[in-house]
Amino acid sequence: MCGIVGYIGRKSAIDILLEGLTSLEYRGYDSSGIAVNIDGKIKLYKAAGKLQNLKDIVDKDYREVSKSTIGIGHIRWATHGAPTVENAHPHSCNCGRLAVVHNGIIENFKELKEKLEKKGCVFRSQTDTETVAHLVAAKFAETKDLTEAVRLATKEIEGAYALCVIHQDVKDTIVATRRNAPLVVGLGEGENFVASDVPALIQYTKKAMYIEDNQIVTLTPDTIDLIDIDKKKVNQKFETLPWEPVALSKMGYKHFMLKEIHEQPDVVRNVLSGKLRAIDEPIVLKEVTLDKEKLKNLSRIQIVACGTSLHAAMVGKYLIEDFCGIAVDVEPSSEYIYRKTITDKNTLVIGVSQSGETADTITAIRQAKSRGSHILIVTNRPDSTMAREADSLVPVNAGIEVSVAATKSYMAQLISFYLLAIYMAEVKGIKDLETLKHELIILPQKIEKILAHKEEIQKCARTFANSKDFIFIARGINFPTALEGALKLKEISYINATGYTAGELKHGPIAMLDESMPVLSILMTGKVYEKMLSNSEEAKARNAKMIALTDSTDSNLYELFDSLIHIPPISEILSPALAVVPLQLLAYYIAEFLGKDVDQPRNLAKSVTVE
Ligand code: AGP
Repeated sequence: MCGIVGYIGRKSAIDILLEGLTSLEYRGYDSSGIAVNIDGKIKLYKAAGKLQNLKDIVDKDYREVSKSTIGIGHIRWATHGAPTVENAHPHSCNCGRLAVVHNGIIENFKELKEKLEKKGCVFRSQTDTETVAHLVAAKFAETKDLTEAVRLATKEIEGAYALCVIHQDVKDTIVATRRNAPLVVGLGEGENFVASDVPALIQYTKKAMYIEDNQIVTLTPDTIDLIDIDKKKVNQKFETLPWEPVALSKMGYKHFMLKEIHEQPDVVRNVLSGKLRAIDEPIVLKEVTLDKEKLKNLSRIQIVACGTSLHAAMVGKYLIEDFCGIAVDVEPSSEYIYRKTITDKNTLVIGVSQSGETADTITAIRQAKSRGSHILIVTNRPDSTMAREADSLVPVNAGIEVSVAATKSYMAQLISFYLLAIYMAEVKGIKDLETLKHELIILPQKIEKILAHKEEIQKCARTFANSKDFIFIARGINFPTALEGALKLKEISYINATGYTAGELKHGPIAMLDESMPVLSILMTGKVYEKMLSNSEEAKARNAKMIALTDSTDSNLYELFDSLIHIPPISEILSPALAVVPLQLLAYYIAEFLGKDVDQPRNLAKSVTVE
């Protein structure tokens, strides 16, 4: 989703801003812009579409633009108003002396706009953000103090925001603030940085401070001042970021998605490391602080998440119910927050999020926390808002994921749920999970086998790349795998793909089947294998093109299925962690075959920071 970067120092700002925006590109956006100060005057450069369009515009004016040692930049994922140049950030006020970039949504922008228009403000865009530009400009006209102007403006703004503001009358100053949207400041020598996410500043500094809600930070090249909304000084807590810039390289792969799929064996090893030490030792989850007596007496668990994380949560439900006998509800965060959910202090609420910044999930966990529930967060970003608000944490250690389509973070979430479910079972005194622990340890080798022999998957991708629709069916613990396989395919190839429980096929979806419809059966040996075969027969009888993803070596399957994708044998309970890999690859090869923008699919954002 939108991204912010700001620089103030003694170097030319433009390259730093553009590089910062490039490193945030993966989040998904549809226009971009920067504001710099050239010879004492604020100048805006904006473009619709890809960042390259902005770079081309800036290039034409490079000699002038490169004079500026201060600047703010933005990539915009459209919410209010189409992705046009006029709606691209930065936005300005009537006099053009101020520039604002904004992530989030100003919920009361209509009322603010009406008031501001009555005072003579002329709006040039359809965005909610432009109200902030006019509002801060009005406050600045009264106070002549940019920090104070931003502070007073935030008292009138409702909604979610990370904001960066510059004004030509206050040279060498950037003012930034946030509420329910991430913002991080990077400390340099004779220069300072601000951004909505770490990748934008990691190549310049590793010393960073996360800004909290309602704090206002004022940056000059040599100083950083931090106050709260009541003007009180706040202690500055800088930390050393554990990130390496190399994480953002494709390392020879054509796309980040392909690289990230191939990283999964190591991701599994990383997640297990230090937590699963030996099969006869209990699982260690240091950051789970829930009292063991309380854990034993939990009445229910609720898991909230969105998209791919929701699918990992569905596997988690299956595992916790199976191992621990505790009732688990899984719900999309965006539904959970708009109904009367029954939670109390005996309910554990688990939030799952790759980014830790998904607005719906943040709101869901805050609601649950206010009702007294213990909040456990499973996230790939221990530095995120969710992680910082959690009572307990399961850090999933997948490393930064650049491709919008989640792959390795899903794997890491799945493995984390296996560990969590075993941990909970062990706390409850259930001890017969050694075979599963052993299988977890050897899982990376099985994933490596799939990655080394992709021919069946590539062939299947070529055969079905021109399909308009795609159906994935599964039963039991692999139903979420079917949903995830379908989500991956639709996200990056734009093929209409849907996952169904195989038993539901005959209750409606079977009406869609004919010779043009591929049906992929997730056919794992185990208790639902025979039933899956029957459901596949039913689809075959309607002339559907049948594909099996299976760990069975039964040669009779060639009679029922048009294409087969084999994976190494695996227990049914662990099979979601293996079966998803060929589905990620299938989606990847189909999208690549169709020439789609694999890493930055249209309309999608990596981190969805609006509700
Ligand atoms: C996954 O491929 C998607 N990009 C999307 O569904 C994602 O999983 C969802 O937006 C949730 O994000 P989160 O895990 O960062 O909360």
